[in-house]
Formats: sequence, C-alpha cells, structure tokens
Amino acid sequence: MTGVDVLHGSLIVPVVVLDDASFAPDLADALTAGGIPTAEITLRTPAALDAIRAVAGRSGFAVGAGTVTTVAQVEAAVDAGATYLVSPGFDDAVIERAAELGIPFIPGVATATEIQRAIAAGLDRLKLFPAGAVGGPTALKAFAGPFPDVRFLPSGGVSAANAGEYLALGNVFAVSGSWMVPAAALTARDADTVRALSAEASAAVAA
Ligand code: 3PG
Repeated sequence: MTGVDVLHGSLIVPVVVLDDASFAPDLADALTAGGIPTAEITLRTPAALDAIRAVAGRSGFAVGAGTVTTVAQVEAAVDAGATYLVSPGFDDAVIERAAELGIPFIPGVATATEIQRAIAAGLDRLKLFPAGAVGGPTALKAFAGPFPDVRFLPSGGVSAANAGEYLALGNVFAVSGSWMVPAAALTARDADTVRALSAEASAAVAA
C-alpha cells in the first residue's frame, strides 16, 4: 500500500487534538464533507482512544492514531480501531510492534540518519517533522537525491498557504497539519468551521 492508499486517497492529514470524544463523528463528517476523508487523532488527550473508537470502521473514512510514541500506545490504538499510526519520531520497539500487528506506520524523521534507519527498518513513507523548522521544501528537495524511493508527509508549520508548494514536490505523498482543526473550533464543537477550513485546504492542494 502506498501512503495515500492508507489515507483513503487523502492528500491532507488533519492533526486532531480532541478533548471530547463525542464530537468525533461530527468531526469526521465535517472533514469528509470538506474533501478530507481521514484524520490523525493524536494520543495527547485522555479522550483520544474513545474518539478513535467512535469513528473506527466508517466506510470512506480512515482514522489514524497520532503521537504514538510507546509500544503500549501501538497496541491501544490498534485495539481502538485505528487503521494507521503516526509518530513524531523514530523508535525501533514501536516500529517493530506495529509491524508485528500489521498496521501501517509512518514514523517521524528530521535527519538523513533517521531516514536511513527507517529504510533499514523497511519503511519508505515517512513524516518529516517538524517540517517548517527543519528546512521545509528546501530540505525535501535535498533529501530527494540520496533517498529517491522515500516519500514524505511534511508536518509542522504546514498551512493552506504553503500546502500546494509541498505537494508539488515529487517526494511528498500528502501534507499534515492542524490548521483545519483549530483548538477553538474543536472546543466549541464547531463543525461548520472545520468543514469550511477543510474545503479551503482541499481547494488549495487541488490548485
Ligand atoms: C503536530 O504534530 O502537532 C503537527 O505537526 C501539527 O503541526 P501544526 O500545528 O504546525 O500544523
């Protein structure tokens, strides 16, 4: 499976920090209506696993777990029904457990050394994090030479304004960020704002 297949074809991965799991179904509907049929629900809140459970198994929507940094979190996210896992960094034990459970895993990398470790672990779909801080499109262009088979998911500092620039690069399979799921909208259960920002993001990457 390619990176985009795991994401149900989405070129955008919303990074969701949700305190209220009961909003997850409306959130998934709003993202999908805005042209984004996936979400990475980060394991940064006590509600995260319940939120994943609340939308797991929906047809046409891929729910991933994000900020997966421990083996226990790999197991809990798979148990909750996540269909892919994302991590800000690279950890051998976490990657091994994900492979054992057969769940697609997108580890975070920021350096050539980490990319080499990922390739050695059999992974070639990697999150570049924090993308803006480690060089953004310039870094991705530089990585294309030595790592021609690696495809990246830049995250951290991506926005509607620069998503198109990232996606125009041949080694980017999708972009990731929180700009279409702002904290204020999630707290207010404001699905209309999420849908509007998602539609704007979809239009930006289609342009
Ligand atoms: C994260 O893990 O928080 C993501 O990289 C999101 O970054 P952003 O808030 O800059 O979009």
